[in-house]
Amino acid sequence: MQRAIDHIRKSLKGLYEKRETESFVFLILEHLFRVDRKAIILNELPPVNDGDLAKVENIVMRLKNFEPIQYILGETAFYTLPFDVKPGVLIPRNETEELVDRIVKTYKGSNLKILDIGTGSGCIAIALKKFIPDAEVWATDVSKTALEIAESNARKNNVKVCFFLSDILLQKEMTTARFNVIVSNPPYITEKEKGLMEKNVLEFEPHGALFVPDEDPLLFYNAILKHSTGLLNENGQLYFEINEAYGEIVQELCRSFGYKAQIVKDINGKDRFVSAKRIR
Ligand SMILES: C[S@@+](CC[C@H](N)C(=O)[O-])C[C@H]1O[C@@H](n2cnc3c(N)ncnc32)[C@H](O)[C@@H]1O
Repeated sequence: MQRAIDHIRKSLKGLYEKRETESFVFLILEHLFRVDRKAIILNELPPVNDGDLAKVENIVMRLKNFEPIQYILGETAFYTLPFDVKPGVLIPRNETEELVDRIVKTYKGSNLKILDIGTGSGCIAIALKKFIPDAEVWATDVSKTALEIAESNARKNNVKVCFFLSDILLQKEMTTARFNVIVSNPPYITEKEKGLMEKNVLEFEPHGALFVPDEDPLLFYNAILKHSTGLLNENGQLYFEINEAYGEIVQELCRSFGYKAQIVKDINGKDRFVSAKRIR
C-alpha cells in the first residue's frame, strides 16, 4: 500500500498542489480499499496485490490528464450525503451547499412544496428532502442523463423527489403544481469567462450546465422569473445561485418582476446568491 501511495504522490508532483494530491490519496484509498483517513495517517494499511496497483495506476493516469476525481471515482459528497456523478452531470460545488444550508435553516420542520430547476445530480432537491423531510420536493432538468442520475441518487439517499423533464427556456407551462419555494442553480458562466477556467472543468464538465451567451447572461433568471408567476404561491420565495459579477443586476431583475430581493454573499465574501420574496 505504501508503494501505491508513493506512486500517486510521485506521479502527480508538479501537476497539482500538495494539499490536493493528499486529498486524492485519501479519496483513492477510501474508494478502492475502504481504508479510512485515520488508518492512512496511522499507517495501518492492508497489503495490496498487483491487480490493486493496476487500479491505482489507472486512476493516476486519468488524473494526469486532469479528469475530475469525482468522475473517475463516480461519486462525491454533498451536504454530507453520497452522490453518484458521471460525465454529462455537473459535479456539485461547495457554494451550492451554502445555498442548501440557508434553505434548510429557514424551513426545517416545515411542511412546504419546493421546486428545484436545473437539478443536475439532484443534489439540491435530495439534500432539501433529506433535511426538511416534511417538504414535498419536485425537481426538473432538460437533460435526460441528469434526471437518470438524479433519480438513482434519490434512491441511494432513500428519499422521494418528484423528477420531471422540462425546458425552462420554453414558454409553455412546466406543471400545474404550485410551490412555496423555487430554488435554482442555473448555468451562469459567460462564454468570455472560459479563458479563466481550469482544464478539468472546461474539458470534462457539461457545457450545457455551465455556460450562458455573453449577450444574455441573465437568460435563465429571466426565464425562471417569467415562469415563477404561475409556479409560486402568494408570498412564495425564490433562491438563486448567481455569478459573482451579476449580483446587482439579478437583484434588479427580480425587483422588476415584483419581488423584494436580497443579495447574499458566500463564505469567500463574493455575491453568490439572491433570495427574493414575491410581494405582488
Ligand atoms: C449549474 S448546473 C446545476 C446542477 C445542480 N443543481 C447543482 O447545483 O449541482 C445547471 C443545470 O441546469 C440544467 N439546464 C440547462 N439548461 C436547462 C433548461 N433549458 N431547462 C432546464 N434545465 C436546464 C443543466 O442540465 C444542469 O443540470
